[in-house]
Amino acid sequence: MIRELNKSDIPSVTRLLNDSMEYDKIFFDGLVNEKIFGDERYDSQSTLVEEQNGKIIGFIDGVYEKREKGSQGWIKLLAVHPEHRQKGVGSVLLKKVEAYLIKFGIEYVTIMDSAPNYYMPGLYFRYTEGNCFLLKNGYEKTGENINLIADIRPGQFNVDSDIKRLNKDGVIIKRADINDKEAVVKFLGQAFPSWLGEVNETFKNNPISLYISIIDDKVVGFSAYDGNNRGIGWFGPMGVLPVTRGKGIGAILCELCLRDIALQGHKQSIIPWVGPVRFYSKVCNSRIDRLFWTYRKNLK
Ligand SMILES: CC(C)(COP(=O)(O)OP(=O)(O)OC[C@H]1O[C@@H](n2cnc3c(N)ncnc32)[C@H](O)[C@@H]1OP(=O)(O)O)[C@@H](O)C(=O)NCCC(=O)NCCS
Repeated sequence: MIRELNKSDIPSVTRLLNDSMEYDKIFFDGLVNEKIFGDERYDSQSTLVEEQNGKIIGFIDGVYEKREKGSQGWIKLLAVHPEHRQKGVGSVLLKKVEAYLIKFGIEYVTIMDSAPNYYMPGLYFRYTEGNCFLLKNGYEKTGENINLIADIRPGQFNVDSDIKRLNKDGVIIKRADINDKEAVVKFLGQAFPSWLGEVNETFKNNPISLYISIIDDKVVGFSAYDGNNRGIGWFGPMGVLPVTRGKGIGAILCELCLRDIALQGHKQSIIPWVGPVRFYSKVCNSRIDRLFWTYRKNLK
């Protein structure tokens, strides 16, 4: 039986994801809750479970954005328990959500890259069944994204003297506080609008998981963590204005976040959906970790 997911299903869905996604056995209720109910786009009618004999054996989470042009849907997560595969469960769940999106005039669907609230930026390439499943269901591979990983220790990031040096040149680098929010939002709206969603989330954290650089009372750069996938050592996004690049500001901003992530107890940080591999490799010796394939299907 397919039905809408209830809040009380979260522990069962967490278990299902850990049982079904062999390369991602890190789900916990808080993370699953963030993925589903923490997304402003959550819609109960596109967040479905397949229940058999009182047990949840399949789950799909679809979201969408209506736009004047190019309305888009995403399948954020989809999993069927290994014991119930190849019986059509995944296909029925997918078709149900696609049909719902078509009703709303959604033009195309992509897989998992549902920024600002997403678990991975595409399907991890080693999910063989998932990749076959998508091709079978009319999806086309469109590209790839990568995540980096960095080994981190709290003592590794000694940025205090660099911050003082830059301060003498009129550059302030600090943790954002709530009074900075308006300026940050304005800056992002002009310079990096696609990162507004994730950065907004950082203001909900205690402490606020965002550092900013300021020159002449204007925000010129930022770096964030825990703006998505809280609790797994998730870095980013970050950006500095081109005119201020080359002064080491970006490196310091990045290191401040990584230090906080290390102080939370994480031994590694995920630097997702990059980007400037060389920059991160130099700043924190990060390595290319996971490759994700992006998929798209036109619904019209
Ligand atoms: C992908 C997944 C959801 C498919 O669920 P399912 O209920 O087994 O899917 P269906 O029974 O509807 O299978 C439909 C198609 O998927 C493909 N598929 C499923 N299992 C496969 C396997 N072991 N090998 C190759 N292709 C496979 C086939 O093309 C199949 O149709 P066909 O046999 O007629 O060719 C499930 O394997 C899963 O949970 N995988 C791990 C998580 C994952 O990859 N999720 C992301 C998907 S976007």
